[in-house]
Amino acid sequence: MESRQIFDKEERNKLLFSNIKVDPSISPFIKNRFEIISSSESYSELLKTIKEENIRIEGFKAEYLILDGDFTEKPNRREKLKDLGYRIEGIPNFDNPSITYSICNYKNFWYFGILTKQNTDWLKHNKKPSSFSNSICMIIAKTLVSIASTGNKNNKLLDVCCGVGTIMLEACFSGFNIEGCDINLKTCKHARHNLAHFNYSTTVYCSDVKDLNKKYDAAIIDLPYNLYTYSNDLIISNIIESTAKLATRIVIMSISGIETIIKKSGLKIHDFCTVQKRGKSKFTRNIWVCEKEN
Ligand SMILES: C[S@@+](CC[C@H](N)C(=O)[O-])C[C@H]1O[C@@H](n2cnc3c(N)ncnc32)[C@H](O)[C@@H]1O
Repeated sequence: MESRQIFDKEERNKLLFSNIKVDPSISPFIKNRFEIISSSESYSELLKTIKEENIRIEGFKAEYLILDGDFTEKPNRREKLKDLGYRIEGIPNFDNPSITYSICNYKNFWYFGILTKQNTDWLKHNKKPSSFSNSICMIIAKTLVSIASTGNKNNKLLDVCCGVGTIMLEACFSGFNIEGCDINLKTCKHARHNLAHFNYSTTVYCSDVKDLNKKYDAAIIDLPYNLYTYSNDLIISNIIESTAKLATRIVIMSISGIETIIKKSGLKIHDFCTVQKRGKSKFTRNIWVCEKEN
């Protein structure tokens, strides 16, 4: 669903071609972004095009990107890296490169371009000081942010039932503008504590979402499960209806089937998926991508 929402197409063999430029660090699934500079069926032609770019840069790194279906052996890959390195002027820096140039082969075509890798530092959020048992896992939290924002960092986001701030941490790490709200004072304190622990500065409103009046481009709702916080259809529909007044795009997550409530709130469901919770207590989470109907 992340791939559909960001790129409007699904990946195949862990790869997709797109003109949409996204920071790979916003997603738990996008490992690399490869910006194609030139391509050719012939390897020697590709090398010519690289030379013609006249690249002069200090601190660059050259890396061979292995894609699905490329069986080039290691010694051959090493040779190709040298070919690439010799066609760029400047002193390389392998540990802390200013830019990484890369070559790869896909379906018998050679490509040269700039490689941006996912920054995996978000995994440090695993050690957030405050957690509670109905917090979602970091991977889901990060995906909800990428789906809600569609990767656009100008979008203003709201985490409606922010709990201890699991979603907010992921959004802040990726450089999104996000605010949170939760009706429970203690939970808000935990969220603020978690955010401060990682030096993220943003606002957590201790409020019922119905009392907020700012506008956002997108909102994420991780609905109460009636497990630790009481919930029923009326509470859920109030939360969704109040959120629909604040944002046009809303990503809703719930363990119950609530399509009827969503539709009654004047929202149109654009996409849907489920995530299985593994471990001791197994259950399914439903995720809906909704937009306000005009
Ligand atoms: C499932 S938990 C969210 C967990 C959160 N995503 C996390 O990972 O920590 C649902 C939260 O909704 C909050 N909540 C319930 N009703 C609310 C309302 N009307 N406005 C804002 N928050 C509400 C609860 O206090 C609870 O913290």
